[in-house]
Amino acid sequence: MSRAVKLRPATPNDLEVLQYWDRQPHVIAAKGDGDWQWETELARRRDWREQLIAEVDGRPIGYLEIIDPAREESQYWGCIAGGHRALDIWIGEKDCLNRGYGTRMMQLAIERCFADPAVAAILVDPLDCNPRAHRFYERLGFEYVVRRCFGEDSCFVYRLARPETASGNANTA
Ligand SMILES: CC(C)(COP(=O)(O)OP(=O)(O)OC[C@H]1O[C@@H](n2cnc3c(N)ncnc32)[C@H](O)[C@@H]1OP(=O)(O)O)[C@@H](O)C(=O)NCCC(=O)NCCS
Repeated sequence: MSRAVKLRPATPNDLEVLQYWDRQPHVIAAKGDGDWQWETELARRRDWREQLIAEVDGRPIGYLEIIDPAREESQYWGCIAGGHRALDIWIGEKDCLNRGYGTRMMQLAIERCFADPAVAAILVDPLDCNPRAHRFYERLGFEYVVRRCFGEDSCFVYRLARPETASGNANTA
């Protein structure tokens, strides 16, 4: 990868680019065409969520959301213990796929999640029909947990546990 990726908070000024990305076929293939209600959600600050835009040389290329699934208000993940984070990621700009940017976005997000000592594991839920995303998460160290339906979406749940510390202790979720 030639250029540095930065994550910054999304703002209402990102509305158009997020709506544009939502119309891209490779994004629809990964997350469906559900309405993320950007206009409302970009204006709402929630302490259980981080909405992040990835930029390369100041150009927005993708979106990354980190939630605390135990506190997220729709309870998308169902009943879940504390100490987790759940991620959603997509690169909206097609010319930015397969250039290592997604890997870097995930590395930054993983660091960000585990910076909180209370976080023991990170979850992702790619569609079961997205094998490239499965390989992508597996390369980052995520382990397959279970196939699970979220609404009408059949997904694979993957989990990344906090890395063991130098003393050999690892938190468990
Ligand atoms: C998944 C994604 C974030 C990876 O970012 P990336 O910058 O393209 O990936 P990298 O260059 O770091 O790594 C390359 C790997 O990404 C994955 N990838 C690349 N294009 C992809 C696509 N259109 N859809 C899903 N995964 C893709 C593959 O695993 C690929 O390697 P492989 O095909 O040789 O196994 C990005 O491809 C994307 O946004 N895809 C569409 C949305 C999506 O699938 N989101 C995740 C599931 S919820």
